[in-house]
Amino acid sequence: MRRIGVLTSGGDAPGMNACIRAVVRAGLAAGLEVAGIRRGYLGLLAGELEPLDRPDVVNVIQLGGTILGTARAPRFERREGRDAARQILADAGIGGLVLIGGDGTLKGGGALVDEGGPACIGVPGTIDNDLLGTDRSLGFATAVDTALGAIDRIRDTATSHEILHVVEVMGRHSGWIALASGVAGGAEAIVVPETPTDLDAMADRIRDEIDHGKRAVLVVVAEGDPSGGAVAIADHLAAALDLESRATILGHVQRGGSPIAADRILGTSLGAAAVDSLLEGRNAVMVGEVGGRIVHSPFAEATSGPAPLDPHLLGLLDRFG
Ligand code: F6P
Repeated sequence: MRRIGVLTSGGDAPGMNACIRAVVRAGLAAGLEVAGIRRGYLGLLAGELEPLDRPDVVNVIQLGGTILGTARAPRFERREGRDAARQILADAGIGGLVLIGGDGTLKGGGALVDEGGPACIGVPGTIDNDLLGTDRSLGFATAVDTALGAIDRIRDTATSHEILHVVEVMGRHSGWIALASGVAGGAEAIVVPETPTDLDAMADRIRDEIDHGKRAVLVVVAEGDPSGGAVAIADHLAAALDLESRATILGHVQRGGSPIAADRILGTSLGAAAVDSLLEGRNAVMVGEVGGRIVHSPFAEATSGPAPLDPHLLGLLDRFG
């Protein structure tokens, strides 16, 4: 293998640039040429490949987003699209690919490998933290911190006005960001799709807290929860408790921003591990970090989630949330 490619695909996540930088630096150090593929599988299909050298990854470790760009590519979901991509990669002499992204990115890589390659190594890059085979995915820690900053600010105004606030955080089918930011923000209730929620029971519990002197009530809900999200919950609780309520949907603010140290370190560590994996002849596996150690999980295993929530944190919900 003389030349490898790297791409980011799906939703961007803070820490992706640290990972791209590590792939480039580790690849060059091993004597490989590294090609950056712009705009994920969409750019690959358009032949948007360019050599990446050390100067191309200077001063990027601290940047949010992805310097390679990202996109969704419906054509890559079809066999015809993947065959075209394979030809483009062969013409460019790419013998291995590092794919940084979430569930859809890894499934796309799996199909590419099954139909004839080249070798693909995945890096978990999604704020949702819903992949198996890693304790954390790139961007999750930063997204939690961003959500927490907003929650803290909302608590200030909630306390001043004694108004109930419901904050909706991201996580398409996953309550990881809600659980982590809710626990860290001392939320009175946390609503996640992984567990059923009884809004009337929650209202009773909140009433009890108010009766015991609670002035600010803050509820955190994951966007994917079947309860209907922040607006529906705020309306329900306002009616049940005869209180004024407000709903805030944090949205894409959680995807941007400079990665915190944990995501820069994880991106660097996994980027280097991805290059090592290609050099070791591994294929169709995601590199992850479990208990501080690098592990390799087949794509099919890593994407068989969503990853269950941390049972210990979840247990705290009953006691504190
Ligand atoms: O996959 C990450 C994620 O941020 C989800 O939490 C969210 O539901 C989704 O992406 C939003 O995607 P889009 O940018 O397409 O609106």
